[in-house]
Order: sequence, then structure tokens, then C-alpha cells
Amino acid sequence: MGDNDNNLYIPEHVGIIMDGNGRWAKKRGLPRSVGHKFGAQNFRKITRYISKRGVKVLTLYAFSTENWKRSSEEVGALMKLFKQYLIDSLTDFRDDDIKVVFIGDRSAFDDKLVELINENEEVSRDRKGMLLNIAMNYGSRAEILMAVKELCREVRDSGLDPEGITEEDIASHLYTGGLPDPDLIIRTGGELRLSNFLLYQSAYSEFYSTETLWPDFHDEDFDKAIEEFNKRSRRFGGV
Ligand code: IPE
Ligand code: IPE
Ligand code: MG
Repeated sequence: MGDNDNNLYIPEHVGIIMDGNGRWAKKRGLPRSVGHKFGAQNFRKITRYISKRGVKVLTLYAFSTENWKRSSEEVGALMKLFKQYLIDSLTDFRDDDIKVVFIGDRSAFDDKLVELINENEEVSRDRKGMLLNIAMNYGSRAEILMAVKELCREVRDSGLDPEGITEEDIASHLYTGGLPDPDLIIRTGGELRLSNFLLYQSAYSEFYSTETLWPDFHDEDFDKAIEEFNKRSRRFGGV
């Protein structure tokens, strides 16, 4: 194993829409929350593998701004799992030198969860390995709105000229400011949509969808996505 198996190019930034936990549980006659439990276990495992493969930035979609629409039972189970896994990840990712950052509106979470989010960021701040962005209460439209409001404030308070605002100014005001755009976005569970994930950043991302449900998405499935990515011809509007 290594960065260059079969001379494959390893994308710098990969995003994953971790979908299909509910269906995974349903297929087994289990409650949806059990699917989330297995999904969370998979998150723990595959993150380390992806870091070993040489990816520089991994953005995982864990909970969207729209996921609050689910039953309070399901949302409650998810919040409980987040807490449990964020306790584990305080030490989990240390050996792989993974730096953890959360993107999304954390103000909606309870104090204990916010504390764990902050703690994870603090203990991993100086790590030099892969950057893991965990998107929680993340929605791309809310993110763009946040950027627009901040730019408006700069126009009002700091003399920013509206005519001078650039695409890079918008990008730098997003949660992902300073990071390369995702090269590859993987969605498990078979749907062919972004569901409000990295809309601005994914303008030229390669999209890879697999029927495999998130709890079943393992190392070899990730490698398959990388192989498929290597077959794509990225033109960025050129020829
Ligand atoms: C993804 O799995 C996890 C979250 C959105 C939190 P789902 O819960 O959406 O699973 P399906 O799509 O219903 O199978
Ligand atoms: C997207 O999955 C959000 C996450 C994986 C966190 P959803 O299951 O919420 O998306 P839709 O509802 O199928 O579009
Ligand atoms: Mg889903």
C-alpha cells in the first residue's frame, strides 16, 4: 500500500456523502439508529485508511441542516453517537496525525457536544497529517449566506468595494476557505444528488456514486472510487 499503487493519482481533497445507514438497518429489520451506529464505526475505520492513502483533505458529510426534519428519536440517537465518537476521536486519530476541524453551524448543538467539538479541534490543532473536515449541521446554502453576510458587513464597515469582490473572496469566506476545492465527491447509497453539500466548492468536482450503503463502504470500495477517478478527463471548461 502507498500513495502511488499502480501509479494512481490520489486526489488532494475528497468529499464523502455518507448516505444509506437507514436502508442498511431496514434491510436487516433493525431500527435506523442501529444503521447509524454501524455507520459511525465505519467512519472511524475508513478515515484512517483514507489518510494512509495520502489524501490531504477529507470532508465527511455527517449531518445536514435539513436532517433536523427527522424524528426526535432519530436525531437524538445521532447526537448521542456523535458525542460517543467524538470522545473516541480525541485519541483515535492521534497516531495518524489527523487534524480535525468541524464545518457547519455548531451553535445548534448542546453544550456537551460543542465542548467535544472544540476539544477535538484543540487537541489536533498542530497535527501535520490529513485534515479531516467533519460537516455537522452543515448546509451549503447556509454557508454561502454566511459568506454573503460577512462580505456585506465588510462593505458597510471596512470600505470594501462591491465591484471589487471576486470569486476567491466568496471562496475564502466559506468554511473551507484556504483549502483546495474537492477533486472527488463520493456518495454512497446510490442517490445522484449533492443534498446541499459543498455546492460552491464542487463546481468542477468529479462525482462518484455507488449503490453500496455507507456501513458497507470499506477500503476496497474507496480504492475503486480512486481508480474510477483516475479514468476521468478533467477539462475545467478547456479542451
Ligand atoms: C446517512 O444515512 C446519515 C445521515 C443523514 C445522518 P441516512 O440516515 O440518510 O440513510 P438512508 O438514506 O435513510 O438509508
Ligand atoms: C445527505 O443525506 C446528508 C448526509 C449524508 C449527512 P440525506 O439522506 O439527508 O439526503 P437526501 O434526503 O436523500 O437528499
Ligand atoms: Mg439518506
